[in-house]
Amino acid sequence: MKTLLIVFHSRTGGSRQMAEAALGAARTEAGLQTRLLPAREAQAADLTAADGYLFVFPENLAAISGEMKEFFDRCYYPVLGQLNGRAYALMVCAGSDGENAVRQAARIATGWRLKAVADPIIVCTHAQTPEAIQAPKQLTRSDLDRCAELGAALAAGLAMGVF
Ligand SMILES: Cc1cc2nc3c(=O)[nH]c(=O)nc-3n(C[C@H](O)[C@H](O)[C@H](O)COP(=O)(O)O)c2cc1C
Repeated sequence: MKTLLIVFHSRTGGSRQMAEAALGAARTEAGLQTRLLPAREAQAADLTAADGYLFVFPENLAAISGEMKEFFDRCYYPVLGQLNGRAYALMVCAGSDGENAVRQAARIATGWRLKAVADPIIVCTHAQTPEAIQAPKQLTRSDLDRCAELGAALAAGLAMGVF
């Protein structure tokens, strides 16, 4: 059975909601195993054991959030050359932008020779002040639906062997 691994980091809950929405939709796909792991717990062996990936994280300081970057840094060389051709997608939670975090993660995925199977999703929370940025997030139903659609598509493609 194929396995979809979702690795996420979230400081104020937005990325977590995105990851959980994708997971909920992916779980409805028969014939697919799903795993959701916080970035700090995800290991190289979790990557090699999976067939497809969804990476979900905030943009912080115009970059991949530190804890998510630490996961990529820690696992990059241990799995290099072992994930070639596997499917992946990205979801980023951002206050105003998110594009640079997507670019950085896409470059890492290129290094791993992963295959992007969907356009990245950026959810903008429009948090602009220090207070709003540090507050817990509640994403809209339509944003969570976008994440669920991506989770369902990724799951279906993996289960059917399309990717
Ligand atoms: C230290 C810090 C830096 C941030 N830098 C950016 C940024 O460069 N671009 C952006 O769009 N949002 C930025 N944000 C806003 C977060 O991306 C936004 O609050 C998002 O909802 C966080 O996702 P989370 O709820 O999963 O933690 C920053 C937030 C923090 C705490």
